[in-house]
Amino acid sequence: MREKILTTGGAGFIGAHTVVELHKAGFDTVIIDNLSRTDETLLKGIEKILGHKPNFYKGDCCDADFVRSVFKKEGNVAGVIHFAAYKAVGESVEKPLDYYRNNIGSLVTMLEVMKEFSVKDFIFSSSCTVYGQPDIIPVDETAPFKKAESPYGATKQMCERILEDAHSTGYRIISLRYFNPIGAHPSGNLGELPIGVPSNLVPFVTQTAIGKRKKLTIFGDDYDTIDGSNVRDFIHVVDVADAHVKAFEYLQKKSSGNYYDAFNLGTGEGVSVLQLINKFEEVTGVKLNYEIGPRRPGDVVKVYANASKIKTQMKWQPRFSLEEGLKHSWAWEERLPSQ
Ligand code: WQD
Repeated sequence: MREKILTTGGAGFIGAHTVVELHKAGFDTVIIDNLSRTDETLLKGIEKILGHKPNFYKGDCCDADFVRSVFKKEGNVAGVIHFAAYKAVGESVEKPLDYYRNNIGSLVTMLEVMKEFSVKDFIFSSSCTVYGQPDIIPVDETAPFKKAESPYGATKQMCERILEDAHSTGYRIISLRYFNPIGAHPSGNLGELPIGVPSNLVPFVTQTAIGKRKKLTIFGDDYDTIDGSNVRDFIHVVDVADAHVKAFEYLQKKSSGNYYDAFNLGTGEGVSVLQLINKFEEVTGVKLNYEIGPRRPGDVVKVYANASKIKTQMKWQPRFSLEEGLKHSWAWEERLPSQ
């Protein structure tokens, strides 16, 4: 029998790609999403790829009665992958309490309801932002957490602490610390849907290239890096999705005891913002209108993953190159409505 995995935030960018990869790997899925930061576009994209409507419930993960009703209706849920969270760094500075209520509240609610239904297995969307600017790069999982730059980052640190404390009361849990997910589904049916002005680099690049934005500003070219711009670890979203499948299978192979661990989810390669832009122009043939601007407050200079833990323990490997990621992001942008 196909096992059923509940994905919260499954109508979002990473969640939707993961739903598709889970089906490919032989799992069934249930999606919970309140559509507060996305709409039904990606649910339709999932349907196109799978050939059937995804199993979807609209509702909020902070609402225990609602979550309970989904568990009851669905019966045997084998585990939960919890993507649902707010993730805009700037917004979190303006509305810190919204971030703490939503990101912490939904996590605690999910864990509590899982306990009621004797569900143990849980994957959490964490972030490389938990490290701040690490002293040693590539950063590995033993690096200490620095003081978070934003309430968003603080919620990820706090959530990891909650998981670490709670796991011994009857859970098997993995935190995946995402670096910078980019790209889109190679079929062109799924991709990123930023609300308003994108704050992440690649959606800003593609929106500028297509003419939705006039100009991209590069936030600083005087850093101590290869070309003065920031360095990041850009990872294809399908590789991110695949890692969730691997992580879930890894949990299921664990003996019945309780478990918690965190894994970096990056490629292990550092790429500068200027290198990414050059690569984008090269693979798409589109000339990008950009200028150098001042540094963005809160940006870390340079961060990329030591990804050997996930590679060796889960036998996960990134399969897509930076070029493919940028091509897929561009193909997705070209299919989106012009406004
Ligand atoms: C990347 C680089 C910018 C926009 C954030 C979160 C992190 C994570 C991913 C989740 C930086 C530069 C950007 C622009 C630019 N997780 N840039 N001009 O800041 O590395 O990480 O998103 O949700 O937790 O903190 O990602 O895409 O915003 O920026 O020059 O218009 O691109 O300065 O160096 P970041 P980003």
